Amino acid sequence: MRFDNFYVRDGRFVADGVALDGIAGRYPTPLYVYSANGIRAKYRLLKEHFPAFDICYSLKANPNPSVCAVLQRAGAGAEVSSPRELVTALAAGFASKNIVYVAPAKTAADVEQVLRAGIHAIAADAASDLELIDSAARTLGVKVRVLLRINTNESQPEAKEVMVGGPSKFGFDEEQVVAEVAGLKLKHTRIAGIQVYSASQVLDGEWLAAHIEYVFRLARRLSQELGFKQETVDFGGGFGVPQHELDHELDLAGLAEAVAGPLAEFRTDNPDCRLIFESGRYLVAESGVFVTRVVRVKESRGRVLAICDGGMNAFARPVFMRIRHPVRLLNRMEEQATNHVDVCGPICTPLDCLARDAYLPMPKAGDIVGFLNAGAYGYTMSLLDFMSRGRPAELMADAGELRLASS
Ligand SMILES: Cc1ncc(COP(=O)(O)O)c(C=O)c1O
Repeated sequence: MRFDNFYVRDGRFVADGVALDGIAGRYPTPLYVYSANGIRAKYRLLKEHFPAFDICYSLKANPNPSVCAVLQRAGAGAEVSSPRELVTALAAGFASKNIVYVAPAKTAADVEQVLRAGIHAIAADAASDLELIDSAARTLGVKVRVLLRINTNESQPEAKEVMVGGPSKFGFDEEQVVAEVAGLKLKHTRIAGIQVYSASQVLDGEWLAAHIEYVFRLARRLSQELGFKQETVDFGGGFGVPQHELDHELDLAGLAEAVAGPLAEFRTDNPDCRLIFESGRYLVAESGVFVTRVVRVKESRGRVLAICDGGMNAFARPVFMRIRHPVRLLNRMEEQATNHVDVCGPICTPLDCLARDAYLPMPKAGDIVGFLNAGAYGYTMSLLDFMSRGRPAELMADAGELRLASS
């Protein structure tokens, strides 16, 4: 199976040369392990298919400083959505000129901090954002590049979280933007392009190609109607990954081919315009595993329950997003599955079940359970302080070594 090919060597579960079956003896569970090589490989894949685009890593997917540092060294820029993410990105070594700030609610203090950092661009979601940014720029004596975030009229993709095409808190509605922006008197702020983030976890390459073409056309039209030079177009991203064994991979080669024509056409008029993809999940999701240990096993009225030391407090995604993450017993990778098991956590609510009906060898106390595909929106989206169980450790496996991934 796909996930096993990525991780299993000689029957042992391995991340970057480190076998994880004995990990529970070395570190307290629950914990996360990330694979530096896996992350680098995904960045390279995206960049190789889209050399004309800058890839900005969306820190919201996983702001762990070691993860950020791997992507920064690989060549990525950063997309940040809060002042704290900005601090993390700068500390990880991302150059200001390679950072964009995209957030639907910006306070005056947020904007001031962003402008002080001198990043490449900040996205504005409303006329009031433009006024706020302009006023902060005047106070600080800086010039700012702003991207208009647009809630487009595109068709909506089949994806987990769709952010365009309907009523939305994000950006200017496409049909309103010219009227809302045209009359503004901006003195310290330069509208430099547009930003459109459409959806997360998109695996439909045809939809993505149509989205990219749509954004090229929209950027051109708005630059003409509002009279700005196109310095940057940010297409968002939303590149998906297979969530479980039945999902297919996103066809990057097909997407790159489909986008080549619109890209070449755009380039003839805008040879220097910076093109940006924001990407979180695609870069890091498959390179993380959430590891928890079975504390006890109960057979209850016909069901087998493996009750573990980590649950929705440490890994909330399967519960809140209703996502089935592939699950394995890491210490028994060679054994055949025999039982349907509910893998539960230690939290005092029946909601705290990370996998229902997972097909596994009959679990026993002490087994090490791994949830794959946990590198994005795992730790960071969890209820880390709920029931005061302590936060899971985060570890980075890199070239045969395992170390604490500083956080
Ligand atoms: C504005 C913006 N950019 C980038 C991302 C990252 O998306 P993904 O992890 O799907 O690549 C998100 C996710 O919500 C987002 O809202």
